[in-house]
Amino acid sequence: MPWWIPFLLFQLQPPLEIPEKNPHTTAADVEMGKRLYLGRCGGCHGPTGDGGKGANLAVAVLPRAASDRALYRIIRYGIPDTEMPGSLMDPHELWQTVAFVRSLGQVPAVAITGNAEAGAEVFRNKGACLGCHALGNEGGRMGPSLSGIGGRRGAGHLRAKIVDPASDVPDPFRLVQLTTKAGKAVRGIRLNEDTYSIQIRDFNGNPQSFWKADVAAMTSEKKTNMPSYRNKLSETELNDLVAFLASEKGNR
Ligand code: HEC
Ligand code: HEC
Repeated sequence: MPWWIPFLLFQLQPPLEIPEKNPHTTAADVEMGKRLYLGRCGGCHGPTGDGGKGANLAVAVLPRAASDRALYRIIRYGIPDTEMPGSLMDPHELWQTVAFVRSLGQVPAVAITGNAEAGAEVFRNKGACLGCHALGNEGGRMGPSLSGIGGRRGAGHLRAKIVDPASDVPDPFRLVQLTTKAGKAVRGIRLNEDTYSIQIRDFNGNPQSFWKADVAAMTSEKKTNMPSYRNKLSETELNDLVAFLASEKGNR
C-alpha cells in the first residue's frame, strides 16, 4: 500500500465528537501550543495575539469562540469567506493550540482597583462619555457602543483609550472610509493593506479590494476622534471609570 494511504484515510475519517472543554491543558500542552501557534498563526495574529492581519486574540472573551469546542472548530475549519484558514493538525495539536490561544486572553490582567459605582458617575457627568458613546439604549453614536465593552477588552486597553486614545486604536480591523477616483465611497473594516492595494470588508460582509492608485481619499480611525482625558480626570476618577467599564458586560 503506498505510504500516503494512511494519511488519506486519516483526513477522510468522519469528524470525531469534539468535547466541550479542552482535554489537553497542561503547561507542556500550552508550551507545545505556543510553538504551533507561532509557526501557523503568529504571522497573521501577531506573536502575542494582539494584532496584525487577524483578529485580536488577546481578549478575555473571543466573540466567536466562547467555548473551547467553538475555538477548536475555528482553528480546524477556519471561518468561511474570511481570510481565516483551516489547519490540518491532529486533534492533540489542535487542542494544544486551543490551550495556548486561551492563555493569550489571560495576559497580565491590569488590576482593577477602582470603584465601579463611582466610575458610573464619572462616565455620566464629568466625563460626559454618553455624548459620543452608546450604553444600552442611551447615548451618542459618534464613537463605538460601549455596551458589553468589559467582555471584549482588557482593563489595560480601556485605560489606554481614556488617557491616550490614539495610542491604542486597534490596528487590524480598523474602520476605514475611502473614496475612489471614480467617486465610489466605501466604508468598512480594513482586512489587509500593502504598498499598492487595500482590502476592505464592507458592512454587507463583502470583501473588496482597491488599487491605491485608484483611491482619491482615505481616512481611518487611527486618527481618533476620541478626546484624551489625561488632564481632565484625577487618578481616582480614572481608576473608578476603568472599573466601571470593565464591569460593563452588556447585561442591560
Ligand atoms: C492568513 C491569516 C490568518 C492565519 C494564518 C490565521 N488566522 Fe485566525 N483569523 C484571521 C482573520 C482575518 C480573522 C478574522 C476573520 C473575519 O471575521 O474576517 C481570524 C479569526 C480568528 C479567530 C476568531 C476570533 C473571534 O472573533 O472570536 C480565531 C479564534 C483565530 N482566528 C485563531 C487562529 C489560530 C489559532 C490560527 C493558527 C492555527 C489562525 N487563526 C491562523 C487570519 C488568520
Ligand atoms: C467626542 C466624542 C467622544 C467622547 C466624548 C468620548 N469618546 Fe470614547 N471614543 C470616541 C471615538 C470616535 C472612538 C473610536 C476610535 C478609537 O478607538 O479611538 C472612541 C473609543 C473609545 C473606546 C474604545 C472602544 C473599543 O472598542 O476598544 C473606549 C473604551 C472609550 N472610547 C471610552 C470613552 C470614555 C470612558 C469616555 C468618557 C470619559 C469617552 N470615551 C468619551 C469618541 C469619544
